[in-house]
Amino acid sequence: KQNIAIAIDGPAAAGKSTVAKIIAEKLTYVYIDTGAMYRALTFKAIQEGIPLEEEEALMDLLEKTVIDLQQSTAGQQVLLDGEEVTLDIRTEQVTNQVSIVAKHGKVRHEMVKRQRELAAKRGVVMDGRDIGSHVIPDAEVKIFLIASVQERAERRHKENKEKGFSSDLEKLKEEIRRRDQIDSEREVSPLVKADDAVEIDTTSLSIKEVAEKILRVVHDKL
Ligand code: C5P
Repeated sequence: KQNIAIAIDGPAAAGKSTVAKIIAEKLTYVYIDTGAMYRALTFKAIQEGIPLEEEEALMDLLEKTVIDLQQSTAGQQVLLDGEEVTLDIRTEQVTNQVSIVAKHGKVRHEMVKRQRELAAKRGVVMDGRDIGSHVIPDAEVKIFLIASVQERAERRHKENKEKGFSSDLEKLKEEIRRRDQIDSEREVSPLVKADDAVEIDTTSLSIKEVAEKILRVVHDKL
């Protein structure tokens, strides 16, 4: 079987990680969550009191930081300098500030270098914002997932409530809009659909339907 690279990009909360995990499992590929890498750096910077606007300080921090994405039977685990931070990087505080960290060109350059090393062997499903457009421009399959802000906020709202977290739908919509705006308008490799990406609007589709659509694109390439 040929091992390929599958890039899945799209705006915040469009369901990228959920379907990427399903696709990776079906193909026994490695799932690489690039957002988790930016989140881990953001978490560490907040903990160490480093201002998120200061590119050089963030770079000094990133250079001595090891971020490991591991797959376990319980799902993906994120290790920051050997310590598990899987849940710590999903807090509202990190979510609402990660796009500031991800704007810095030097930070992105280093993250992209690490991501390309992970993708070099193929057999990967990588999700993020710039994977098809920049990180793996020669990915054999490129998917761009979109959904309305209303739909994305409602999904997140439902998830939060199921987890027993307090959740405010209007606030979620505002946060998603704001994060999309920063990610789309930044100067260095902004969120953009690659010319050769297949766009899928997931607004009225189930997770299973989205995964099936992607698998069809994948099987055409294999
Ligand atoms: O995918 P997730 O929502 O966890 O990503 C968190 C943030 O990390 C994004 O909003 C974006 O600012 C940044 N990111 C990025 N490039 C990627 C992946 C994530 O800029 N490839």
